[in-house]
Amino acid sequence: MIGGGYVGLVSGTCFAEFGTDVAIVETNPDRLAALREGRIPIYEPGLDRLVEDNVAAGRLTFGDDIAAAIKGVDAVFLAVGTPSRRGDGQADTSYVHAAVKQVARAADGYTLIVTKSTVPVGTGREIARIVRETRPDLDFDIASNPEFLREGNAIQDFMRPDRVIIGIDESRPGGATRAQDILRRLYRPLYLLETPIVFTGLETAELIKYSANSFLAMKITFINEIADLCEKVGANVTDVARSIGLDGRIGKKFLHPSPGFGGSCFPKDTRALTAIGRKAGSPVRLIETTVAVNEARMQAMAERIIAFAGGDVRGMTIGVLGLTFKPETDDMREAASITILGQLDGAGAHIRAFDPAGMETARAVLPPGVTYCGDAVAVAEGADIVVVLTEWNEFRSLSPDKLKKRMKGRRIADLRNIWDPQVMREAGFEYISLGRPEQADI
Ligand code: NAD
Ligand code: UDX
Repeated sequence: MIGGGYVGLVSGTCFAEFGTDVAIVETNPDRLAALREGRIPIYEPGLDRLVEDNVAAGRLTFGDDIAAAIKGVDAVFLAVGTPSRRGDGQADTSYVHAAVKQVARAADGYTLIVTKSTVPVGTGREIARIVRETRPDLDFDIASNPEFLREGNAIQDFMRPDRVIIGIDESRPGGATRAQDILRRLYRPLYLLETPIVFTGLETAELIKYSANSFLAMKITFINEIADLCEKVGANVTDVARSIGLDGRIGKKFLHPSPGFGGSCFPKDTRALTAIGRKAGSPVRLIETTVAVNEARMQAMAERIIAFAGGDVRGMTIGVLGLTFKPETDDMREAASITILGQLDGAGAHIRAFDPAGMETARAVLPPGVTYCGDAVAVAEGADIVVVLTEWNEFRSLSPDKLKKRMKGRRIADLRNIWDPQVMREAGFEYISLGRPEQADI
């Protein structure tokens, strides 16, 4: 497994849990040192125990030497990053290309190279070209096995996926069968659970990943716009989402309004799909709009907070609950908090923030003036407004009275709808949330 980040570490550990021997190669010295010392460099519930068990069983090892790691293996997985390229939004495949060259140079026999990273359509064939150029003598196959895990729920998602997608280069005589056999064996525990395993061509598998993420991002963006509309017409988005979601064709998941989707995947993958569409002369206009609406939403949320504060936050103290792009992760990549707090800080507010897992990663990306608090209640100390940006469970049970005692003001902006409007109003707060009238849900 080349790359020991969120996807490589989880996938590698879960394959080991399935009974396969896995060597994870990681070039970031801090991440590698942590893994070697038995520390998990990312926050992912349950991962520490699974890593510990599989290291103890001798099935899971960590190193930085690709040649040593891939000696005699059945398959090499690429799980390196594919961030957005500045400017045009295309996925940057330079880490993938570099890793492929390293693998090709070090390979000591037939090698199946499997892409787990999310890569633009055509990358599989590009990888094959690179391998042929680097090692004309090498016997190899290419497969695409996109990963659908969510951070915070990654182990469950990997162990019990809705489906596994395997794209194979069908044009290579014999190669397809050999590659299929290896991947079938690897995923055998999931066959036993009757997980659908879908075999496709390379390009199809690559496009499936972008289509899935973009569709989900579009669904969230849809409900976010409906939430805005609810506010204008006096409707309740919770009831709208639940009711449309009861139609099995729509489905109830991913209909929670938010200050905008963030994370390491949706923002970059929606941008990448629009770039793929434009390049192919077949623009995906719904997703182009999704990207634009989501970016505008994060700005609009900051403006909404400023308007709620009376139009000027200069000198005000704003308490912020939650910084990461979603709960149960320490990941700050493209979190709504970056845009929102950047704008509030720029407008002169003093920000007091708390996040259960993300404060260390947040320090590197948030304005330097942010004060980080020791617990959730401490953000309310002297605050004119308290804002909820991430729906960590521990915030749901916070006592309104406790917040009130510490706050200077009485305003709460709940941008994740974690509290009941009526309860907050009865507790003496001026309370705004997303797409809900200021009354209890019936
Ligand atoms: P990440 O940045 O956390 O991890 C990538 C790791 O690869 C880093 O630790 C980096 O040091 C290492 N690396 C880079 N080049 C290397 C090399 N040549 N040799 C060894 N190690 C190398 O990224 P991630 O979140 O794990 O994402 C990886 C890929 O998986 C991306 O394409 C992403 O789109 C996709 N993906 C991510 C998620 C998610 O939830 N994070 C889910 C599905 C798919
Ligand atoms: C996502 C995909 O779900 C996963 O299948 C893929 O492999 C990687 O990208 P992840 O980014 O870890 O996973 O988290 P996810 O739970 O999908 O949330 C992404 C963003 O959407 C978060 O900012 C979250 O707050 C937001 N979101 C999600 C909403 O705003 N509303 C929702 O209803 C669901």
